[in-house]
Amino acid sequence: MSILKHHKKIETHATLLLVLSFLVVTIGGIVQIVPLFYLENTIEEVDGMRPYSPLELAGRRIYIREGCYVCHSQMIRPMRDEVERYGHYSLAAESMYDHPFQWGSKRTGPDLARIGGRYSDDWHVQHMIAPQSVVPESIMPSYAFLMNREIDGRYIEDLMRTYRFVGVPYTDEMLANARADFLAQADDEADHSGLLERYPGAQARNFDGQAELTEMDAIIAYMQMLGTLVDFSTFVPDPSR
Ligand code: HEC
Repeated sequence: MSILKHHKKIETHATLLLVLSFLVVTIGGIVQIVPLFYLENTIEEVDGMRPYSPLELAGRRIYIREGCYVCHSQMIRPMRDEVERYGHYSLAAESMYDHPFQWGSKRTGPDLARIGGRYSDDWHVQHMIAPQSVVPESIMPSYAFLMNREIDGRYIEDLMRTYRFVGVPYTDEMLANARADFLAQADDEADHSGLLERYPGAQARNFDGQAELTEMDAIIAYMQMLGTLVDFSTFVPDPSR
C-alpha cells in the first residue's frame, strides 16, 4: 500500500503534481514526435499520383466554393463497412496535392473519395441539375446553375503557379500549356495528346453535353477522376511503414 501513500502525496501537492505531469507529458511527446524527424517521408509514395489537370483543378475549386464538403467527406477509413461500401481505403498519398484537403467528417451524403467512374457523365449532369430526379429521397440541393456559368481559364495559370508555390510539382511545361489544356479537356474536337502526356489518365471529353465550356464540365471532370489515379489491382502497401 506504500505506493498509494506516495500517490496521495503527489495529489495533495499542486506543484509536485504539476512538475510530474509535465515530465510525463514531455516523455510522451518525445516518444511520439522524435521518430518523425528520422523518417525521410511520412507519405508512402504510390504510382499513379499526379497533380490535378487544369480543368480538374478548376472543378475542385468549384467543389470548395459551393461547400460540397459540408455534406461530403473524401476519406474512406480502413474499416470493413466503409471499404465494402466505397472501395479501397484512402491513402495519404492520394491527397498529397490537395490544398486544402477535403477529408471531412460530415457525411450527410456519401463519401466521394472514389466516386470517379461510378456513374456516367449524364447521370452526374442529371443529378446536379435535379438530385431528386435520380434519387427521390435525396436532400442534396440543385446545382443547375453550373450549366450556365461559362469558364475560359483566363486565370488558371496564375492559380497553378500559386499551387506550385505551396509545393504542388507543376512543371514549367504544365504552366505554359495551362490554358490550352484547360480548354482542350472538355472539347471532343481538340487534340488531347499533350494533355494526356502531362496528366496521365486524365479523362478528356465533353462532360456536360453542351457546346460551351461550363463549370458543370469542370466539376464533373473532377468527380470522374476522384479516386481513380492509383491502380488498386496492383497496389501493395509498403510493410516498412
Ligand atoms: C445538403 C447536403 C449536400 C450538399 C451541400 C451536397 N450534397 Fe451531394 N449528396 C447529398 C446527399 C444526401 C446525397 C445522397 C443522395 C443522392 O445521391 O442525391 C448526395 C449524393 C451525391 C453524389 C452521389 C454519391 C453516390 O455515391 O451515389 C454526388 C456525386 C454528389 N452528391 C456530389 C455533390 C457535389 C459535387 C456537391 C457540391 C456542388 C454536393 N454533392 C453538395 C447531400 C449534399
